[in-house]
Amino acid sequence: MRAHEAGALHAEVGQRGPAWLGTPADVNALMPQLWPQTVTRGPAGALSVGGRDVRDLAAEFGTPAYLLDEADFRARCRAFAEAFHDADVYYAGKAFLCKAVVRMIAEEGLALDVCTGGELAVALAAGMPPERIGVHGNNKSEDELRCAVAAGVGRIVLDSHQEIDRLTRIARETGTQPRVMVRVTVGVEAHTHEYIATAHEDQKFGFSLAGGAARAAVERILADGVLDLRGLHSHIGSQIFDTDAFDVSARRVLGLAAALRDAHGREFPELDLGGGFGIAYTSQDDPRRPAELAEGLRRIVKEDCDALGLPVPRLSVEPGRAIVGPAVFTLYQVGTVKDVDGIRTYVSVDGGMSDNVRTALYDASYSATVAGRASAAPPILARVVGKHCEAGDIVVKDEFLPADVQPGDLLAVPGTGAYCRSMASNYNHVPRPPVVAVRDGQARLIVRRETEADLMALDVG
Ligand code: LLP
Repeated sequence: MRAHEAGALHAEVGQRGPAWLGTPADVNALMPQLWPQTVTRGPAGALSVGGRDVRDLAAEFGTPAYLLDEADFRARCRAFAEAFHDADVYYAGKAFLCKAVVRMIAEEGLALDVCTGGELAVALAAGMPPERIGVHGNNKSEDELRCAVAAGVGRIVLDSHQEIDRLTRIARETGTQPRVMVRVTVGVEAHTHEYIATAHEDQKFGFSLAGGAARAAVERILADGVLDLRGLHSHIGSQIFDTDAFDVSARRVLGLAAALRDAHGREFPELDLGGGFGIAYTSQDDPRRPAELAEGLRRIVKEDCDALGLPVPRLSVEPGRAIVGPAVFTLYQVGTVKDVDGIRTYVSVDGGMSDNVRTALYDASYSATVAGRASAAPPILARVVGKHCEAGDIVVKDEFLPADVQPGDLLAVPGTGAYCRSMASNYNHVPRPPVVAVRDGQARLIVRRETEADLMALDVG
């Protein structure tokens, strides 16, 4: 019997997990908010996604693999597009980008936010219409700006005075008038269920509102008259679950718009409130639906504009995580199961912090389930860890798995679509996993697995 197995040990083990994990749940159950919409546990007990059994997908594509439920991903794109029908939705490519995903978001009617020359190159290579691309970044190089201008992107979000210098020079040289926004740092910091509103803004992004830098940036752009200033931009953080924090940021940024109108008689046609909408990683998270977010933001902007006597600008938002995060799960294979007596069971999988660094980096919480079969065994408190040479190589800190979890089992971790493949590394020379899009019984590779030859491809000599 395993150290933490069943029976009388349950209560004890349950108390050792974090309080929120509660009592051991049915280890075969799938909480709908954590899984892509086509994922089910079939009669044989194995998970399927997009009509394909994960055991077959593992045999065909190997493990670990990121499995993208294409119907779910497209449905999330559409839900945002429909909810924000009178606004622009820029999918934040930093969450996950590859050419196939660019094509999907373009087909679903979204725009795309890129924040480096590399992301811009992928977008253009995949045929994203340039006018639907927004360019971010706190340190855009001369080359990146030239490339964006040459491509004719829809807008560039300005982040520093040096960047205004660079882009103004490029615009003069090329005889163009790039559309720009000014990124304003409003002193609102939002993370998960909490946000802090402060008067100062100690961070690298944007122009400070409180310190007057944002106003000065707008004034010099207006005075130069070279760039086409469309409006103000603000992004306040990640994993935000309600609209209160946006209420504060919108009020502050629209307050600046009103002050600029009073001083210069100029009104701006657009307003971008950024991304950061939260998703469910565990049963503790209760995200808002796109329709609720849209309704909340629309009301906030309308009320603030009415109070300030401003016309309501065209709104844009930049969700990344909320679109791709829940549409993907990672499929691993268990290699080793180790009971550390009286503490917990360590379940080692064939990936780890190289394919999901968020647990190690942000202390993020995930869940997991045995994916290739159902189990009648009682639950044990487990920690899912990777194969890297590092004690902090944890994928799932705490989860109840069946006591008979064993080498060879497939294990699925949901919610890994955002900031996992995009932040993946080759630590310990582990090749990065493929991304497989599954839909209507068909699976297609959209990013192939790295090979050992890829790992050596950059070595010289
Ligand atoms: N817009 C701007 C200007 C951003 O900086 C970001 C994210 C987004 C939109 C998209 O945010 P989302 O809707 O995906 O939360 N690596 C971290 C997240 C970093 C977010 C950076 N900026 C993580 O794994 O949680």
